[in-house]
Amino acid sequence: MDWGLKNRLARMIKPSDGRSVMLACDHGYFMGPTRKLEVPRRTFEPLVPYADVLSVTRGVLRTSVDPSWDIPILLRVSGGTSVLQNDLSDEGLTVGMKDALRLNASAVSISIFVGTAHERQTLLNLAKLVDEGEDRGMPVMAITAVGKELEKRDARYLALACRIAAEIGAHVVKTYYCEGFSKVVEGCPVPLVVAGGPKLNTEADAFQLAYDALQAGAIGVDMGRNIWQNDHSVAMIKGIRAIVHEGATVKEASDVFDQSKGASIPA
Ligand code: 5RP
Repeated sequence: MDWGLKNRLARMIKPSDGRSVMLACDHGYFMGPTRKLEVPRRTFEPLVPYADVLSVTRGVLRTSVDPSWDIPILLRVSGGTSVLQNDLSDEGLTVGMKDALRLNASAVSISIFVGTAHERQTLLNLAKLVDEGEDRGMPVMAITAVGKELEKRDARYLALACRIAAEIGAHVVKTYYCEGFSKVVEGCPVPLVVAGGPKLNTEADAFQLAYDALQAGAIGVDMGRNIWQNDHSVAMIKGIRAIVHEGATVKEASDVFDQSKGASIPA
């Protein structure tokens, strides 16, 4: 791995503890102005001080992220479908490496759809991106997307998808937490982060997901809706941060949430 790629990765994953709180705000690329992300900057500006990485598309980066903010950018570079389709897997590359470099991205992210009609296409997109990333010093995150088929998220499927992503050369993989997650971690030779998925019933559920994923070997989260769809999004990210970087338990993270919530105005 060349120096530039290592340096970018070190911006994404904190060298002090090898962990990362990535704030996922890239949903609009296929969901449009989804709930609480209607005006992206309004959603993420208060959260950025507590995130290690901000995950966005180039359109949101250029329109809604202040270039002076000190936050590494994980740039979403795949897309081409919308929630109006039943099958979300027909993705291509939406941003060239030249623009990713011009935007000073610290890494690029791409979805792969293993087991779908577009499996081959999305895996070859990943391969192409990894070739370009290795050439230009840009880390690539593969996202084991399931589209609308949320029930696919079990250890057997996710272990398969994560391993394929790593074998093709992804430097980091984002996947979902599931029962038996340690099997997914064991079979994946590159760092794994977990998405939160649709908003869970309680804050404690989201903290539990992050806690269990970390216990099983994930190096962090790339979480969106469970943070910014919460009425107390700053309190929420503080609780997640406590789990990821301070080894907090679910109870301790809930205490962080309650204390911070007490001091904040609902969004
Ligand atoms: C959107 C994504 C999201 O970044 C990912 O799903 C994480 O967000 P959330 O925690 O809301 O699931 O890949 O396609």
